[in-house]
Amino acid sequence: MDKEVIGPGACVLRGFVDDPAEMVRAIADIAASAPFRHLSTPSGAPMRIAMTNCGRVGWVNVRSGYGYAEVDPLTGHSWPSMPAIFTRLATHAAAEAGFADYTPDVCLINRYTVGSSLHMHKDRNGFLKDMPVVSVSLGLPATFRFGGQGNGEPPRSIPLVNGDVVVWGGPSRMNYHGVLPLEAGVHPLTGNTRFNLTFRAGVVKPAPRLGSKTG
Ligand code: SIN
Ligand code: FE2
Repeated sequence: MDKEVIGPGACVLRGFVDDPAEMVRAIADIAASAPFRHLSTPSGAPMRIAMTNCGRVGWVNVRSGYGYAEVDPLTGHSWPSMPAIFTRLATHAAAEAGFADYTPDVCLINRYTVGSSLHMHKDRNGFLKDMPVVSVSLGLPATFRFGGQGNGEPPRSIPLVNGDVVVWGGPSRMNYHGVLPLEAGVHPLTGNTRFNLTFRAGVVKPAPRLGSKTG
């Protein structure tokens, strides 16, 4: 297996997904009950990335802000449960990267189309920081940017293609990362789209009750 170390506790597992088509079908099933939606940026502009979730809680934004919620504000139902193939893949990838006993609680699903990008950020919200982030790429290629803990550290560019998995944990868990604007293309599995699955583990506290007066 092709493992590229990109930092302490961080690596890219090339072509790690055995059956990307099965993963893409599972995404379609999830989206049938929890549709992709465009969240808005703090300035109010809609993001080009569309998102949905599966697992215990989902990443949402409503008028009161961003956070994890147990109920999908779009449908009023809880999020679709995590497919077994997702759990297995994330656990296996984390183990391969050196993190044993990883069971993901949530999976954020991002859908990128041409021009969609993700600004540099840290995955800081609501989860145990000793659990790594596991990030799966499906469909069109993209350039992942992986920086350090500080905003000033120049990020490195890492090309990601269908079936690649990136894991960052340990001393790299709070590193800045982002994705450059998706280039136009057609992928046999996903057409003009890239999907990214981001797994996180360890729900620390009950999900925020978004939309309530107490936040
Ligand atoms: C993320 O940081 O949430 C997603 C990264 C990616 O799309 O590869
Ligand atoms: Fe992230």
